[in-house]
Amino acid sequence: MKNFYIGILFLSFIFVGCTARQPQYRIGVSQCLDDAWRQKMNYEMERELLLHPEMTLSRRIAYGSNELQCAQIDSFISERVDLLIVSPNEAEQVKPAVTRAYRAGIPVIVADRRVTGDEWTAFIGGDNYKVGSLMAQWVNSHLPSPATRRTLAILEVAGLPGSTPATLRHQGMMDGINPRIEVHSVMGSWYREEAYAVVSEFLAKHHNIDLIVAHNDLMAIGASEAVKDSELSTKKNIPIMGVDGIKPGLQAIVDGKIECTATYSSRGDMVIEAAAHILHKEPFVRDTVLETALVDVTAAYPMLKQDEAITRDLETLHIVQTQTENKWKQQQLDRFILILFVVFFFTLFLITLGYILFKQRKIQTEIKHEILPQLENMQEAIQLSRKDEAFAERLKQIVEEHLTDPNLSVEYLGTMLQLSRTQLFRRAKTAIGKGPLDYIRERRLIRADELLRTTDMTIQQVSLEFCFSSPGYFTKCYKEYFGHLPSVR
Ligand code: FRU
Repeated sequence: MKNFYIGILFLSFIFVGCTARQPQYRIGVSQCLDDAWRQKMNYEMERELLLHPEMTLSRRIAYGSNELQCAQIDSFISERVDLLIVSPNEAEQVKPAVTRAYRAGIPVIVADRRVTGDEWTAFIGGDNYKVGSLMAQWVNSHLPSPATRRTLAILEVAGLPGSTPATLRHQGMMDGINPRIEVHSVMGSWYREEAYAVVSEFLAKHHNIDLIVAHNDLMAIGASEAVKDSELSTKKNIPIMGVDGIKPGLQAIVDGKIECTATYSSRGDMVIEAAAHILHKEPFVRDTVLETALVDVTAAYPMLKQDEAITRDLETLHIVQTQTENKWKQQQLDRFILILFVVFFFTLFLITLGYILFKQRKIQTEIKHEILPQLENMQEAIQLSRKDEAFAERLKQIVEEHLTDPNLSVEYLGTMLQLSRTQLFRRAKTAIGKGPLDYIRERRLIRADELLRTTDMTIQQVSLEFCFSSPGYFTKCYKEYFGHLPSVR
């Protein structure tokens, strides 16, 4: 019975589970960092995911650690995710884990930063070499005319050296930069604080820097803070360029902290779209390279406003999503409660039915084994008593007819009633409560008494009439029966 209820509960869960919207695909997202640019990318992914309820995301962040990122990718592999999206911290170091995932048959989308080799399914990211070219273009635009015979000294604040954007941005810049320009490089590793530290250290030693080019907006802001806090700030203005075009960078341009930035799209939405194509076995573009453009103060303000509007939209979307999810959960809960009720009442019904059936069977057994036999006994008893009555009638009749007959005896009665002596005695005992001899004698005494009282007959005459062997014997019997001696009229 216990198993029966567990079964019913289990079925209820399955029922609730089946009716619930079940995501079909689980996607692992391995992010190298968690800065503003990555958060934008995550937002874009989640927004796009609203159009794909069949997919669910599980995100892990490596916080700039190659080892952690490899371990996280390996855990995605052992969890058998349906697809892996990875933004590798450093190309070479993270490549083995990406290859493992790819070789395990998991489709891999590499986003933003590339890995070396080609064991991945699709790539979506910016054109970092072009970003480098834009940096060179911007730097070159600041070069005084050759007539002045003055040159420029610039400081490049580079991203993490092992990451493809840092390598390609540097390369793009170096390929396009005017050879007269003197290039110094420090490593900010993509972090604002790190950039502040290395730029401050650099500026403390070199005072002849004219421009700063940072590989991202956050490092550009860090550099601007370093300049502001250095001795140079009072002496000259050092224009700074960043990369990304995300909210903090655009704000820094509007605030005059940096001069411009090169856009570097995150396009998390495109990544999810590609994932959907791959999972649905639809055609997809293997290598998508996103455009970049220079943004100065004229473009920064409208872009910032647009960015704010998008953020607001996303927030609203999130609220709606959460509300929908809550409603969905509530609905599931209601459904579960309903099922519990149904199970409860069904159980109650079964228990009641079981009880009724049990009772009925008990009553049937009682009727069969107790009441029916009793009834039969009673019927038998009635029949017997009827027989006895008839027998008694017959016996009385014979006795009555032969009261004065000297032949009336037990044997005579036996012959008349076709019974043996013993049978006659037993049946007479049951039917009239006494043996046949006693009955004959009793009837003769009663009749004799009547005659004595109503006629002029003597004791001698009546004793003779009713076949007593002598008047003395009659008197003895009379006294025994009536308790007094017979008397004549
Ligand atoms: C964000 C970021 C961006 C940069 C990109 C390069 O984590 O550092 O600022 O453009 O990564 O992969």
